[in-house]
Amino acid sequence: MTDTKSRKYDAVIFGATGFTGQYIATEWARTAKKDLRWAIAGRSLSKLEAVQSQVRATTAYEKDIPIIVADVFNESAMRSMCASTRLLINCTGPFRLFGEPVVQACVAEGTHYVDITGEPQFIETMILRYNEDAITSGSLIVHSCGFDSIPSDMGVVYTSKQFPNNGVCSSIETFISLQGNSGHATTYECIVLGLASAKSLKTLRSTSRVEIPYVGPKLKVHSVGFDKRMNKYYIKFLGSDASVVRLTQKHLVLAKSPVQPVQFSVYVTFESILRFIPIFFGALFLLTFGYFEWGRNLLIKYPAIFTFGWFSHEGPSQEEIENSGFSHQFFAKGYKDKNNTEGNPDWEVVAKVQGPEPGYLATSSMIVNCAYVILDGEVKERGVMTPGAAFRSTSLIDRLQNRGIHFTVSTNQSIEEQSTKQDDSN
Ligand SMILES: NC(=O)c1ccc[n+]([C@@H]2O[C@H](COP(=O)([O-])OP(=O)(O)OC[C@H]3O[C@@H](n4cnc5c(N)ncnc54)[C@H](OP(=O)(O)O)[C@@H]3O)[C@@H](O)[C@H]2O)c1
Repeated sequence: MTDTKSRKYDAVIFGATGFTGQYIATEWARTAKKDLRWAIAGRSLSKLEAVQSQVRATTAYEKDIPIIVADVFNESAMRSMCASTRLLINCTGPFRLFGEPVVQACVAEGTHYVDITGEPQFIETMILRYNEDAITSGSLIVHSCGFDSIPSDMGVVYTSKQFPNNGVCSSIETFISLQGNSGHATTYECIVLGLASAKSLKTLRSTSRVEIPYVGPKLKVHSVGFDKRMNKYYIKFLGSDASVVRLTQKHLVLAKSPVQPVQFSVYVTFESILRFIPIFFGALFLLTFGYFEWGRNLLIKYPAIFTFGWFSHEGPSQEEIENSGFSHQFFAKGYKDKNNTEGNPDWEVVAKVQGPEPGYLATSSMIVNCAYVILDGEVKERGVMTPGAAFRSTSLIDRLQNRGIHFTVSTNQSIEEQSTKQDDSN
């Protein structure tokens, strides 16, 4: 175990010059406790100086913001950056291209680490390669601490905790609704590269399979459909959420936790069937061109053309960001008595997580609060893990509630009671 208390910084924000990194540095300057010592880092001094001035101007932050210059591919710079801090916030992506040297250096130096990756292959590879070493060196590495995949993963934690004391959650269906949806080109690049390597992810998973002892009927996962409860069309969400939530359930099993693992599915909803058309053609472009290297280069070079303006090199404007938001609706089924899980579920919980613009506002709030939880010593476990595994028993949800990311419950009752109410109202 490395003792990191006497290090120069409590936190370093690496990749602070990126579109998202700048939001994260600003959120940190606005909300961090006054006594936290922190720095911004990246590969370009001039860009970092510009971020430093901009953060100070927009937040009226009065103290100095130190700068560390480090390139991902310079091992000694990585090691010395990671050795200077108790925790590193990584915003350099695509993570499949730039993430591993950062994780490796943090693990080697016993430094805690959080990131905003939404790339399952990267996350699953890091768990396989670095979990044991991270436990030995005393570092806690938590992936996916942004919109990918805090709402889903912590939403599952929150929803399953609503079941009666002696009860248990069996499955959760989740529906994501987005108001306004544009993003910066790098996120789209991650999607293109991720879809192109779907086969190797399958191979990777076949080497690390763990039997998860779910209870209740097997949850059916659909590709597309119409959900009456949401009154909306939906398609299966191809982001990292399902993978991250599954990794959290796997962690519960491997850690021999008494918490019951939960089956999970996640969909994106649409108000009208017309919204399907651009999605359909966008997906078609990705799947056909994305298969070939020349096609991927083309897709990545012209994001705005191939996504009908959803992703661009300029990223969303301030106005677009202010007019956006997200909500995740969780429909959970389970049992009021964990010792009686034969037959159909008899208990239902409906919960929601909602917040501001997901990719940059909510993401920056989520990751800095994950960092505060770790710096305050709330997580005792070490290793490479997902948010639901690391933050299950911490104050993260309360902290997020205070920052405008709301977790609420609308239904918590026996399924019998629910159908009686419905019969009465008909
Ligand atoms: N979880 C979420 O919901 C969420 C939300 C937003 C973004 N993200 C992810 O966050 C990542 C960044 O997205 P973004 O839009 O902010 O991208 P971006 O603007 O392109 O930023 C990328 C950052 O990586 C840095 N970088 C690139 N190569 C480097 C190297 N060799 N050494 C050191 N730094 C290097 C860049 O530095 P320069 O400025 O010097 O080029 C920049 O700071 C992506 O993977 C994206 O998918 C996730």
